[in-house]
Amino acid sequence: QHFSIAAIPGDGIGPEVMAEGLKTLKKIEELHGGIHFSIDTFDWNCEYYVKHGKMMPDNGLEILRDYDVILLGAIGAPTVPDHISVWELILPIRRAFQQYINLRPIKLLRGLESPLRYKAHKDLDFIVVRENTEGEYSNMGGRLHENTPFELAVQNNVFTRYGTERVINYAYSLAEKRTGRRLTAATKSNGINHSMPFWDEIVKEVSKQHPNIQTDIYHIDALAAYFITRPEELDVVVASNLFGDILTDLGAAIVGGLGLAPSGNINPEKNYPSMFEPIHGSAPDIAGKQIANPIAQIWSISLMMEHLGFSDIADLIVSSIEEVLIDRKVSTPDLGGKNSTREFGEAIHQQMTKK
Ligand code: NAI
Ligand code: MG
Repeated sequence: QHFSIAAIPGDGIGPEVMAEGLKTLKKIEELHGGIHFSIDTFDWNCEYYVKHGKMMPDNGLEILRDYDVILLGAIGAPTVPDHISVWELILPIRRAFQQYINLRPIKLLRGLESPLRYKAHKDLDFIVVRENTEGEYSNMGGRLHENTPFELAVQNNVFTRYGTERVINYAYSLAEKRTGRRLTAATKSNGINHSMPFWDEIVKEVSKQHPNIQTDIYHIDALAAYFITRPEELDVVVASNLFGDILTDLGAAIVGGLGLAPSGNINPEKNYPSMFEPIHGSAPDIAGKQIANPIAQIWSISLMMEHLGFSDIADLIVSSIEEVLIDRKVSTPDLGGKNSTREFGEAIHQQMTKK
């Protein structure tokens, strides 16, 4: 089978981890004779912005539309304000291609210890479904009376019935596929008194079609605490765009850090390409040093393979990462090791061959 991939390495550590991700794709081709990838790389990043005054060409989305999947490294540099680099590249892709599901597994890999050491013997393995096209990250609002004492800024939250139902339906079907036991929804209906009660109502409506699944609706502040105090009880967590964004950095922290955490921006109907990327950003503090952890990028390729229907290869990637972690001989500084991005990636790819 043939798949076309658009690779956008991006800024900072993006290109460093993407280089390892591209080797993962090569390794998959080598191990699985039937799979072939054709990969085109795009230099759309902050440097491109400084040169051209935009993050991608005017027909950038049209170009991407023809690919089966998009692989992203990370975007963001001190030369361009973050609200421009994110709003002109990542958010347009998520929206144009109806990638309304942002899937973020929170799983403690074998060979790693959670910083929640007292929980380390317990299984930490759940998944956050983040709404990815509306909610708090709406483009609606504005600023008035700039630079006066009366200055104000307004940003509206947008929750449509269509957008809310589809993400909650997806989360329930994922819960059915996983353990069939439990779904946890993040809310804040005590403080945000229009959109969040609406969200809760839709959770309750959809829950009626899944009577076997226990539904809990927790306020986001309490739920953040549960991520620390009883994460082993979670299975599928569904959250709005902002809440899901915050919860998943927290989730990444309890299973080893941002360098490990992958994500998929999924268009479940497969009408458009889905996009796979690490949760982390461009990490300017460590960029250019070859010390970034490549696992988040490599694991995001595992999510990609799952999406393309190759669960066996998806599992092989994750178990190979685990073998290298258990072995403990090679790792990057964020995990206490001394190795480079390249050496860590190489160890994982060698392990894939052994399996
Ligand atoms: P960040 O995720 O880039 O870095 C946070 C911390 O985690 C830093 O200390 C960094 O060194 C560490 N870290 C991140 N990835 C790592 C890896 N693979 N290995 C080892 N350590 C790692 O978040 P920050 O600093 O808030 O943002 C930096 C830039 O990235 C900003 O311009 C921001 O807008 C952008 N950003 C882009 C995202 C994307 O492309 N999807 C997501 C988040 C931030
Ligand atoms: Mg984030």
